[in-house]
Amino acid sequence: MSKLRVGLLFGGCSGEHEVSISSAKAIAHAFTATANASKYQIMPVYIQKDGCWQVGEVAQQVLATGMPPQIAAESLTAVPPTAAREAANSQRIQRWQLPVQVAEVDVWFPILHGPNGEDGTVQGLLKMMQIPFVGSGVLGSALGMDKIAMKMTFAQAGLPQVKYVAVNRSQVWSDACRFPTLCDRLEAELAYPCFVKPANLGSSVGIAKVQTRSQLEAALDNAASYDRRIIVEAGVKAREVECAVLGNDYPLASIVGEITYTSDFYDYETKYTEGKAGLQIPAPLPPQITAQIQEMALRAFEAVDAAGIARVDFFYVEATGEVLINEINTMPGFTATSMYPMLWKASGIEFSELVDRLVQHALERFKG
Ligand SMILES: Nc1ncnc2c1ncn2[C@@H]1O[C@H](COP(=O)(O)OP(=O)(O)O)[C@@H](O)[C@H]1O
Ligand SMILES: [Mg+2]
Repeated sequence: MSKLRVGLLFGGCSGEHEVSISSAKAIAHAFTATANASKYQIMPVYIQKDGCWQVGEVAQQVLATGMPPQIAAESLTAVPPTAAREAANSQRIQRWQLPVQVAEVDVWFPILHGPNGEDGTVQGLLKMMQIPFVGSGVLGSALGMDKIAMKMTFAQAGLPQVKYVAVNRSQVWSDACRFPTLCDRLEAELAYPCFVKPANLGSSVGIAKVQTRSQLEAALDNAASYDRRIIVEAGVKAREVECAVLGNDYPLASIVGEITYTSDFYDYETKYTEGKAGLQIPAPLPPQITAQIQEMALRAFEAVDAAGIARVDFFYVEATGEVLINEINTMPGFTATSMYPMLWKASGIEFSELVDRLVQHALERFKG
């Protein structure tokens, strides 16, 4: 029986490029160093930060080293305007031309996080190729990415969440009269502390916890520099717990895990500095709270029309016993020590079995 060729698509044009490489490295290992090797053949496809797709040696090299390739020194030196224009044009053509080898892919495993990877854009391209792929389609990915659309969908599904206000960049960078009115409204509706977030990023980039009017103003201005769409949320004092989901129409919810840290909130530095955050699996919770989180995770998965894989994050307000949904991630971090595979390992599904199941779910979803 010939092996199924899995296109492992990684890297990408987002701030989570490096995380994607780490995830891809772990996934490639699970396809090649286990019983999966008799079933699957991996084709690594690396998307450079400039959007160009690379196969063969370049992609293999990135996987092997776990690092993006060094940019050649000559590409950084100044070039005359006409030459720069020609170079830009040829780069565009390169970006639009996919390597011919991708025609050999039987099923895609896009392990891309954040904008241009987890937001429906790549999913649209893969759908147009008419090749099965792991994870959510265009709608689920887009709803899972945009925090405003996501929260509106959760509200419609009756999932409890923090109070929020959607803001547009034009309201922030408006005339000097409208901006104070916006801040007045945010203070009245949400109070302090509140969280200001670009709606479409991830990894806590551009997110600020604000306690005062001047912090609010600065945070809105900063968030507007990242995104046209901004969300401001009432802050809650809560434990952060996460649940993994696997499947399509009959998804399974994993054991629940907890993120622990000592910083003020789970910011970029805490997420990516070794030793600043810990995972506790299973989360020490009353059994009925665990069951409630699992049930809400499945409802959230269904509400956004997710597929295959998702990690759903919650706030558990211990003081009141309330569970509030924070977000769904349709392509969560997938390194050997990431929450998603760790939750499944604790639930009885090893990393290698997990990637196998995800590919099988991709094939199942493609059939309809
Ligand atoms: N409304 C809130 N109340 C309390 N903490 C929050 C709130 N929103 C975000 N946070 C903190 O900020 C972190 C990142 O926010 P999140 O919305 O999950 O963004 P990202 O998609 O970048 O992970 C959360 O894990 C939490 O620590
Ligand atoms: Mg988060």
